[in-house]
Amino acid sequence: MSSTPSPKPFSWEYRPTALAKEAFHITGGRPLSGSVRVSGAKNAALKMMAASVLTGERLHLENVPEILDIEVLRDTLRDLGVTVEREADGSMDLTAGDVEWLFVPLEAAAKMRASFMLLGPLLARFGRVIISNPGGDRIGRRPVNLHVDAMRALGAEIDYRDGYYFAKSNGRLKGATITFPQITVMGTENAILAAVLAKGTTVITPAAQEPEVDDLITLLNAMGAQVARTKPDRIEIQGVDALHGATHRIMPDRIEAGTFAAAAAVVGGTINVDGVEPTHMKAFIDLLSELGVDHAIEADPVDATRKSLRVTGLPPGGAYRATNIRTQPFPGLATDLQPSAGLMLTRAAGTSTIEETIFEDRLEWLVGLRGFGAQVEIVDPRTARVTGPTTFVAAEAEIPDLRAGATLMLAALAAPGASRIHGAHHVRRGYANIEEKFRGLGAELTHVSEEGVAG
Ligand code: EPU
Repeated sequence: MSSTPSPKPFSWEYRPTALAKEAFHITGGRPLSGSVRVSGAKNAALKMMAASVLTGERLHLENVPEILDIEVLRDTLRDLGVTVEREADGSMDLTAGDVEWLFVPLEAAAKMRASFMLLGPLLARFGRVIISNPGGDRIGRRPVNLHVDAMRALGAEIDYRDGYYFAKSNGRLKGATITFPQITVMGTENAILAAVLAKGTTVITPAAQEPEVDDLITLLNAMGAQVARTKPDRIEIQGVDALHGATHRIMPDRIEAGTFAAAAAVVGGTINVDGVEPTHMKAFIDLLSELGVDHAIEADPVDATRKSLRVTGLPPGGAYRATNIRTQPFPGLATDLQPSAGLMLTRAAGTSTIEETIFEDRLEWLVGLRGFGAQVEIVDPRTARVTGPTTFVAAEAEIPDLRAGATLMLAALAAPGASRIHGAHHVRRGYANIEEKFRGLGAELTHVSEEGVAG
């Protein structure tokens, strides 16, 4: 193995690579108005960057969001020997000519779980990889057992020692039937990324139906792979000997789109969320209708392939209709939109229920929401009741994770007076230029550095 190559200089102006601690100072209580364009989807872009190691040829990705998670994976790929260059127009070139360092360290995995997406493609192209378990030795939360089982089904030998998976295959991986005991998005994607170069046919069932999976499939097919969704929850792959370079434009971020739509509903005012694909957001748009939030799907002002979602929120004092929400795999309501959806419920008259069926640790953010005046009862780790309508008050809160963080920002924007939100760096992981975008809608917010570097 060669030593780690020195990273190439990076061309963006801003963006700290280390997760420097930051806080948002937000003065809320005034309606938002204007247009905001959503960025490329984080959860599509990361998998496509991982797909770059499947070929020695150049991959050109357009519409790559300017977020910290992308930087983390960029650095990990560079450490492996992949050339990654960012263009001023938001595109990224990746060339994985000589990958000799088949090792993904704990440092990368600890920063971002999606670094585990390198397991399948590295194994498929190079026949071996040592990769850190993103959960360390912790058992329970967000395990990767389904990814590992999928690789074993394809013929890989995988040992687990000291927090690392040592994976190898004798010759090419072999096509197989992979039956997941439950739906997994990244598990499905890792299995696809391994099976595209395997010998023979692979069938994945039940396969995740998230649009990001299909966007990845479109890219892989442009690289010469043969992947087809033969039924909504069944994906079939004919392995090929080699893949080649390709160009692909990344789909819009449906979670960011939902967050801005919720901003209008909760804070008040009218926001045009431009560059969206409504078919990716049906469950969320249906929820707007159920709540009675005024919205319309209109033509995008500049992009004929996309739409604009216009949302007008009620002024303070007005109330929506209470309803119950339940997160589910696509096409159900995305768990990543559970905080945004849950926040909208606080503005409904009466009691609404939130049921989180995907993750067991995703209702904790509601504790922070209480500080802003919301009436929340956490019934059990997966169920909460929200009683509204809430009159928001300014507060101080700590962001526990990415999606909840963006939502607490919305609560602060709805609350008259000055709020402070600590842990802003979490939001930068997944929302491109969020401060600039909110300011463009008339929000008053700044960020301040806080001591230390986030762990
Ligand atoms: N699970 C296992 N074993 C596994 C994999 C998953 O038990 O090996 C469990 C999980 O613990 C969870 C369920 O299966 O209870 C479903 O998890 P899934 O594998 O679908 O989630 P993921 O692929 O790890 C992606 C997104 C998440 C998003 C979920 C669900 C990326 C990088 N992450 O995670 O996005 O919440 O799908 O849609 O694509 C985010 O962007 O903020 C985020 C967390």
